Amino acid sequence: KCLEENGFSQTFKDLLSSLPKAKGWLSPHLYKYQGFWLTALHLQGTLSFQHCFQAQDFDILLITSPKSGTIWLKAMVFTLINRMSHPILSQEHPLLTTNPHDLVPFLELNYAQEKNPISPNSSLTSPRLYSTHLPYVSLPESVKNTKCKIIYMCRNPRDTFVSLWHYISKLRSQDTKMIPFEEAFDMFCNGLTMAGPFWDHVLNYWEKSLEMPQKVLFLKYEDVKEKPFLHLRRLAEFLECPFSLEEEESGLVDEIIKLCSFENLSNLEVNKSGKTLFGNDNRVFFRKGEVGDWKNHLTTEMVERLNQITEDKFNGSGLTL
Ligand code: A3P
Repeated sequence: KCLEENGFSQTFKDLLSSLPKAKGWLSPHLYKYQGFWLTALHLQGTLSFQHCFQAQDFDILLITSPKSGTIWLKAMVFTLINRMSHPILSQEHPLLTTNPHDLVPFLELNYAQEKNPISPNSSLTSPRLYSTHLPYVSLPESVKNTKCKIIYMCRNPRDTFVSLWHYISKLRSQDTKMIPFEEAFDMFCNGLTMAGPFWDHVLNYWEKSLEMPQKVLFLKYEDVKEKPFLHLRRLAEFLECPFSLEEEESGLVDEIIKLCSFENLSNLEVNKSGKTLFGNDNRVFFRKGEVGDWKNHLTTEMVERLNQITEDKFNGSGLTL
């Protein structure tokens, strides 16, 4: 019997039993809530997040579909907005000793814990920086009604799936059987992933970024990899803390890029041997950090299937991945 579901209240169990349910990747089930699939634990956290979180005008929310480069985005935005209080080259920089997930917590995960490692409403330092994997439809009303800014990063579905597959293989305990690659691929294509369907998640934020460019900034992992300087500048401008000429000329942007790079972060002791506040090994969040590793894993048929879904779903939206 499902371990994670044992501690839930009767009301929550009633809600679960009223929702569409499917087999999960690691957790026994995924539940469809507001059109997207979540594990029971994430759903519980989501409900409290929706109910309890009060966004403020200066909040910044980093949003991704899992395995789209969340940790990288967290590192970059944290470094960017705190560049006065935490100089990039300082030996005391928080990124040198803390995993980005602990610097920028996931709100739904945080609310899923009995004792929140952070207290999301009490921080008085501004801007407050948080993250979530939730789709736009599930964000708390206060996020939508305040001037709180959203930075969304997506990644092409081929690399996202491959990354997810490896991540889940590392997370599973030794006695949990891994779902076969082909079956996992099928689940991904059918939208059955955490916060999936992947395509709907991306498309909703894409549309919001077109509707409300001051509120939602839409980034692609591949673009940031290719032109990090340009996109850091975009980020800084969007967050209303643009780089000064002096900062740009002094090489500060390049220093941020280097500090947050895969090579640098993945080689830090904290990320090789430490654990997050939620108990995961930090190293599971770093694998290759490349664009195009899908070529080593997906068959031609698989690529065609993903491309076809992407074409159908994004048809007419102006978005390509
Ligand atoms: P791969 O599995 O393809 O290597 P998330 O942070 O959303 O869980 O995404 C994880 C993916 O981002 C993994 O991709 C991981 O290796 C990659 N990643 C981690 N740190 C990165 C960094 N600093 N720059 C670029 N990619 C990074």
